[in-house]
Amino acid sequence: MEKKDIKIVNINKSFDGVPVLKDINLEIKQGEFFTIIGPSGCGKTTLLRMIAGFISPDSGAIYLGDQDIIELPPNLRNVNTIFQKYALFPHLNVYENVAFSLRIKKIDEATIDKEVKKYLKLVGLEEHSKKMPNQLSGGQQQRVSIARALINKPGVLLLDEPLSALDAKLRQNLLIELDLIHDEVGITFIFITHDQQEALSISDRIAVMNKGEILQVGTPAEVYEAPANPFVADFLGENNFFSGEVIEIIDEELAKISIKGLGEITIEQDREVKIGDRVNISLRPEKIRLSKKKLKNKKNTVNSFEVYVDEYIYSGFQSKYYVHLKDNENLKFKIFLQHAAFFDDNDSGAIWWDEEAYISWDAYDSYLVEVIPDEKK
Ligand SMILES: Nc1ncnc2c1ncn2[C@@H]1O[C@H](COP(=O)(O)OP(=O)(O)OP(=O)(O)O)[C@@H](O)[C@H]1O
Ligand SMILES: [Mg+2]
Repeated sequence: MEKKDIKIVNINKSFDGVPVLKDINLEIKQGEFFTIIGPSGCGKTTLLRMIAGFISPDSGAIYLGDQDIIELPPNLRNVNTIFQKYALFPHLNVYENVAFSLRIKKIDEATIDKEVKKYLKLVGLEEHSKKMPNQLSGGQQQRVSIARALINKPGVLLLDEPLSALDAKLRQNLLIELDLIHDEVGITFIFITHDQQEALSISDRIAVMNKGEILQVGTPAEVYEAPANPFVADFLGENNFFSGEVIEIIDEELAKISIKGLGEITIEQDREVKIGDRVNISLRPEKIRLSKKKLKNKKNTVNSFEVYVDEYIYSGFQSKYYVHLKDNENLKFKIFLQHAAFFDDNDSGAIWWDEEAYISWDAYDSYLVEVIPDEKK
């Protein structure tokens, strides 16, 4: 069978002379759970609507398998869309909402019944088939939308922030269900979200967009651990950013940089650098160790500094520490610690505000996010 990968090639689109999509290139594999994430207004919905066929590009092509689908109307694209707002028919009950497209196709009653029941079961709504949309919770309505889209057996399901109207707990649950449904039906899902946690936890791959451009495509671990630039690092998670100058190339993997006000630290060369280069480093708050005593660490890759704790915020599953370098008030770090009972001499559970402590991190835990080009120096 032909592989129905989606291939988006050099897509451009402007509205009223303002470019909204700039030379977009993407390949989405058949069966993938692919997420597009980016700030409001960056062009996510425009791109999705273009795949669905509701907007045509100014230039470029979109392939589904070997077929260029740009000229095809939405109903011939084998693609279904689920929107943020549940667009259910208010005068039809759950069963009839799901059955609707099959009735239009004049499918026989027995098949319709079998299919509707199958998809209502898939989304966990068998018990609610007689209810009208206004008798359902938001999450239930969204499940009806999912069943109604899947019953058409689309090759691709487009989901434009389908969970954003729901509360946090329900979002979590529905997200897990979406993942299970995706595994079960095995079709391509293209999912749009603002929410980095949603994106990181559910996707096979993620595209990070900003201002009409795709900045990076990768697995959740790739975009989180090796962000292409400071924007991606910042959009997906929290960072301590530092800029410094390369002062020594230790070996193929490691280098030393000097950071004004902090001193020398050892970093991994995630990008090729040479002495004199200015670089930006990201250090994720959860990768820093906080301890009362200086760590007895024999590895020469560990960076360690004495700090003063300005603030300690308990936030349930983790604690956040805001500290500054003991010798320099202007150099601040944020550190996130998970709670656990550590019974070693590095016990960090007992560190409070207005205390002195040590921060440590391994050179391999920072990330060289950018070599600053000359004009920015
Ligand atoms: N039909 C239109 N006419 C003019 N401008 C439009 C039109 N549709 C979208 N835009 C503009 O294109 C840009 C991208 O919009 P789009 O809806 O794709 O963003 P988005 O990434 O989905 O944002 P959000 O996360 O808020 O949904 C915005 O600046 C928007 O105002
Ligand atoms: Mg949108």
